[in-house]
Amino acid sequence: MGYIYKAAVIGGGTMGGGIAQVISFSGLPVIIKDINQDMVDKGIEAARQVYASRVSKGKMTQNEMDQKMMLISGTTTYEGFDDVDLVIEAVTERMDIKKAVFKELDEVCPASCILTSNTSALSISELGAATKRPDKVIGMHFFNPAPVMKLVEIIPGLETSEDTINDVMEFTSGLRKMPVRVEECAGFLVNRLLMPFFNEAVFAAQEGAASLREIDKAVTDRGMPMGPFFLADMLGVDVCYHVQHILHEEYGTRMAPAKLIDKLYAAKRWGAKTGAGFYVQDGTQDEAFAEKAIAEVQAETGIKGTSFSFERLILPMINEAAYALQEKVASPNDIDIAMMAGAGMADKSGPKGPLALADEMGLDVVVAKLEELQAELGERFRPAPLLKRKVRAGHLGVKTRKGFKEYSGELETV
Ligand code: 3HC
Repeated sequence: MGYIYKAAVIGGGTMGGGIAQVISFSGLPVIIKDINQDMVDKGIEAARQVYASRVSKGKMTQNEMDQKMMLISGTTTYEGFDDVDLVIEAVTERMDIKKAVFKELDEVCPASCILTSNTSALSISELGAATKRPDKVIGMHFFNPAPVMKLVEIIPGLETSEDTINDVMEFTSGLRKMPVRVEECAGFLVNRLLMPFFNEAVFAAQEGAASLREIDKAVTDRGMPMGPFFLADMLGVDVCYHVQHILHEEYGTRMAPAKLIDKLYAAKRWGAKTGAGFYVQDGTQDEAFAEKAIAEVQAETGIKGTSFSFERLILPMINEAAYALQEKVASPNDIDIAMMAGAGMADKSGPKGPLALADEMGLDVVVAKLEELQAELGERFRPAPLLKRKVRAGHLGVKTRKGFKEYSGELETV
């Protein structure tokens, strides 16, 4: 069992800066390393902003903020890495770049140092294989905004040791975050479930089933914290594009990206970071871009005028949760906890994960609706085998006291 006294974050982007704030807040020193000084400064500034907002709300004093900020240092070299205990890599989502970083880290960090990656969807085992310490390489996936979202997915690779897993779980709890262990698979848990929901929202928009704003509103009206387009603009349409393509490559047709995502990506409509995504953020770019792109997609695909419902978006998420469950990626409780703590998933009554939601709807209803949508909109809605098995066994959810989860209380006799 090793202890973590000093950490480092590679990459001063949105996530890097947020993660450094989280680590310093827990009282540990942290180095932000990037290849250019601008990015190092941006990362430090992002952390400063989070603290400044706490000071302005009276949640901490200026003096406390100064002390926390003194724990964060920046570098463009690997200075100070000779005694780091844990590194979190948060650079561009490209395997070649990440592998090069891991090779360098393997050389400059002490042999005992744990190397983690904040990748959204790439293989941890592949990153481990790029080092001479695959037993000490593990995924540590934070959620955006990192200072706020409680979840950290902990993803062991094929060769990650139990000691490394335990150390990283404990370190994460020490950051006042909630670690959930997830078996390695493309998109891990939250992105694997969130992206089919987002992708279906894009299909609905590009087919003219409803407008971007109507779809976002339908989602927040049901109690979710953000609509899918508002969220994508915050996360980065480029990030969603990359994750969706990785999922498509790994899982096949049911994850095929809606064309509108590719069009936004190609036009650099990447959301807040480029001033415009689905929505215009800074008032200087073409307000009608999304509308024109939608018209283009309709001309190319010949598909328009499909119908919209909230179920159309949430059922692909529930279906993917069933696939993840049948692959034993995580337990039913962990799946729901991850979606609540990592993506703020909720309904009108409060936080609620997709499996609890499915149990409330009734798994027979879920399967019937998926089959209806499959007939109307295509193969991506084909129900996961586990869902059908549960229905055949009479495990229909809350109404039979057994579905994805078990419910206490007597069954009402009719
Ligand atoms: N950075 C730092 N702090 C922030 C922040 C940011 N970007 N945005 C909001 N906050 C803080 C606020 O300051 C506030 O702090 P306080 O409680 O100390 O006053 C707190 O968060 C709540 O903020 P608000 O009251 O302004 O707003 P909301 O109640 O609407 O909550 C939210 C904001 C927590 C972001 C909520 O909208 C939410 O849960 N959204 C869903 C986000 C999500 O799904 N993220 C995961 C996406 S997937 C991902 O990241 C994986 C990647 O690989 C793609």
